[in-house]
Amino acid sequence: MVLNGPNLNLLGTREPDIYGTETLDDIAGRLEDEARELGVAVDLRQSNHEGHLVDWLHEAASVEARAVILNAAAYTHTSVALRDAVAAISVPVIEVHLSNPHARERFRHRSHISPVARGVIAGLGAEGYSLALRAAATL
Ligand code: DQA
Repeated sequence: MVLNGPNLNLLGTREPDIYGTETLDDIAGRLEDEARELGVAVDLRQSNHEGHLVDWLHEAASVEARAVILNAAAYTHTSVALRDAVAAISVPVIEVHLSNPHARERFRHRSHISPVARGVIAGLGAEGYSLALRAAATL
């Protein structure tokens, strides 16, 4: 399961100097091709609502997803609820960011997700999702 948080539906036009010009649909299409080669299935979703992301993490556990790739976007820095949801499930969660939050504003330096994530990939653009998928397929 590949979960994306707020404003990531605007990828492609949203601050392209930071987030690149690929849309979330472009990323989804590429991940589907790569998943086929790896022999795994991907289910990519996006929501601007914190509770949807919490519900989907619970769903990942109930369907026994092999892994979750999570770009919680701004909720990374604010959401104890998402952190608790990640901690509550036994499905491994790989945190992904297109940009490198540590090289940006101070308020982006803290991630509530990182302490409970299996791994973190940041700053490599959309390629980070592909790297996470490759890692997820081995879990
Ligand atoms: C982001 C980084 C976050 O700080 C930001 O709020 C986002 C996107 C990234 O992918 O680089 O919305 O998660």
